[in-house]
Amino acid sequence: MEPPPRTYVRDALARTEPLDRILIQGWVRTRRDAKGFSFIEINDGTCLENLQAIADSALPEYETVVKAISTGAAVSVNGRLEPSKGKGQQWEVIAEAIVLHGNADASYPLQKKGHSREFLREIAHLRPRSNLFGCIFRLRSRLAHAIHTFFQDRRFVYVQTPIITANDCEGAGELFRVTTLDLLNAPRTPEGHPDFSEDFFGVPTYLTVSGQLEAEVFSAAFSNVYTFGPTFRAENSNTWRHASEFWMVEPEMSFCDIHGNMDLVEEFTHALIHDTLEHCASEIDLFNRFVDKSLRNRLETLLSQRFERITYEEALKILAKSGRSFEFPVAFGEPLQTEHERYLADEYVKGPLAVYDYPRSIKPFYMRQNEDGRTVAAMDVLVPGVGEFIGGSQREERLGRLEDALDAHALPREQYEWFLDLRRYGSVPHSGFGMGFERMLMFLSGIPNIRDVIPFPRTPGNASF
Ligand code: 4AD
Ligand code: MG
Repeated sequence: MEPPPRTYVRDALARTEPLDRILIQGWVRTRRDAKGFSFIEINDGTCLENLQAIADSALPEYETVVKAISTGAAVSVNGRLEPSKGKGQQWEVIAEAIVLHGNADASYPLQKKGHSREFLREIAHLRPRSNLFGCIFRLRSRLAHAIHTFFQDRRFVYVQTPIITANDCEGAGELFRVTTLDLLNAPRTPEGHPDFSEDFFGVPTYLTVSGQLEAEVFSAAFSNVYTFGPTFRAENSNTWRHASEFWMVEPEMSFCDIHGNMDLVEEFTHALIHDTLEHCASEIDLFNRFVDKSLRNRLETLLSQRFERITYEEALKILAKSGRSFEFPVAFGEPLQTEHERYLADEYVKGPLAVYDYPRSIKPFYMRQNEDGRTVAAMDVLVPGVGEFIGGSQREERLGRLEDALDAHALPREQYEWFLDLRRYGSVPHSGFGMGFERMLMFLSGIPNIRDVIPFPRTPGNASF
């Protein structure tokens, strides 16, 4: 008789009827022996929960195969799905035939006892098989789906912006260079610098820090667009919330000002939380038990919370009145640091907030200048526990102002002619933002370190795996 098709553990556990024939395949979490039986807990990654298989000692392979199975082994179990007689689970598989594909010996690091997240980071190739990281990466997958659904449902067009680029969108100089020049023997200009006209693309190129400029091109044709892809920053900051390679979601909307932009942030955030609570309930439950006991409550509360909106200058006043001694200065023209953001979100508002209208001098060239002459229509959106998770702005749509801004930032106009053309032909007020995908994941899971929400984190000094 042909074996039945594979049933995933998640579907088996959700059944309302038993099954005469079932095939379960996965990795053994534990095996324990009782008189005349062996109980095997199997996880196949489709959900947090395991499915228990019961092997009777009468099985022909009992002594040779079943008794050899250890934690971490890969197995296929054919049998019957029956209501469980034990406590704690509704269904179990009565095994009729068991195949041991690859066993794992006692050196397998994920034995039953809990490990620290720091330790698991060192075995990033095995940690997806732990309960915690299983939950994190299922949430990550679902969140990506929810992001696409949100935008597709609202007629946003998904645009794939280039990863290799000649622009420094944010102007912060945090670029990874892309080159095929022989570093030890590069062609030189008469001044003795490496000659990038001889390089692969004929110009200096980098890994992108943001897809925004190209997204603006598409928003000037499709009204509303979004990007969702990897971005790279050579920031030499080893912090709990910075990665050198991370994913960003960047919506860009024509006929939209900074206030419409903040409205979208709110709707977007609510939709993602809603989707997570609905589709990742057991994942959230696990985070709530083992990572952050206030997580579920915080997420549910946020669903009914409007986002506070305050200007940068109002934020300065709040910080000055806080009575706190901050490490970094609180003064016009100074960026808000993590400690300031955390005070505003965690303690002052105790919820999400958008800070807008930042000093021109600390923001990139493309942001729309306000009439006060010293601020731009920038916004940072802060959430408790994480601080900034979204940064965005209304863009400068006026040709002359944008040209002046390029000059003020000492950026060569020739290189931005295509971007200026958007202001020459059918220019329109437009706005957008970038959401750090990992920052959102940290917020949704309560996981306090960005290294634990990326499959294989890249941070200064670390590119293992
Ligand atoms: O605030 P940023 O630098 O904004 C931009 O890049 C704009 N071009 C976005 C836009 O308007 N389309 O970055 C946006 C977000 C931040 O709020 C943060 O969540 C995340 O990207 N981010 C990082 N996440 C992880 N590691 C890093 N090193 C990050 N740098 C920024
Ligand atoms: Mg920012």
